[in-house]
Amino acid sequence: MPASKTPVTLRLMTEHDLPMLHDWLNRPHIVEWWGGEAERPSLAEVMEHYLPRVMATEFVTPYIAMLDDEPIGYVQSYVALGSGDSWWADETDPGVRGIDQFLANSNQLNQGLGTRLVKALVDRLFSDRAVSKIQTDPAPNNHRAIRCYERAGLTQQKVITTPDGPAVYMVQTRAAYETARSAT
Ligand SMILES: CC(C)(COP(=O)(O)OP(=O)(O)OC[C@H]1O[C@@H](n2cnc3c(N)ncnc32)[C@H](O)[C@@H]1OP(=O)(O)O)[C@@H](O)C(=O)NCCC(=O)NCCS
Repeated sequence: MPASKTPVTLRLMTEHDLPMLHDWLNRPHIVEWWGGEAERPSLAEVMEHYLPRVMATEFVTPYIAMLDDEPIGYVQSYVALGSGDSWWADETDPGVRGIDQFLANSNQLNQGLGTRLVKALVDRLFSDRAVSKIQTDPAPNNHRAIRCYERAGLTQQKVITTPDGPAVYMVQTRAAYETARSAT
């Protein structure tokens, strides 16, 4: 099957993936949009902050995106309500899930793979009836990410201020998701 047709699947990340994640988080195309040079993590920091059982205590679920047997990206979802540290302080709906993601390989950008990855994550999250809305918050100048999320079905709402700085608040409600699905 050509790579453009191979489905992108998601598997839960395990602690065995952390050295690979450390490598990815130090690649320039990811550093640029994942906290910048100041946030370039050491292996020890990745082992501390991305350990799945630690992330679970903060209601964050990490996944590795796969194309056949090849790991191609990192994805995380989180429960927005009660995120803490001034994140999503106005949220009252326990059904809102946030998502963050990146592709591991710079030579795979801009080929529609990110759109397929985000769609796979959105499908997975909405398969849980408790999920009402999916949100994400790219930097306003990350035009590639914004366009990718639009292609995946999310819509731009407004520019917000997050603890990480300005961001474009983008969402897909369950109603919009089901309408889009029934149209295909
Ligand atoms: C963001 C990311 C997941 C998107 O995945 P991707 O496979 O590159 O994106 P896609 O190919 O599915 O879609 C990209 C779209 O943006 C467009 N695009 C690319 N660069 C652009 C730019 N500078 N301005 C406007 N649109 C741009 C592409 O043309 C494409 O749209 P089109 O198909 O309608 O023409 C991936 O680029 C990535 O991992 N980037 C590095 C880390 C990152 O930014 N993570 C997101 C943090 S919020």
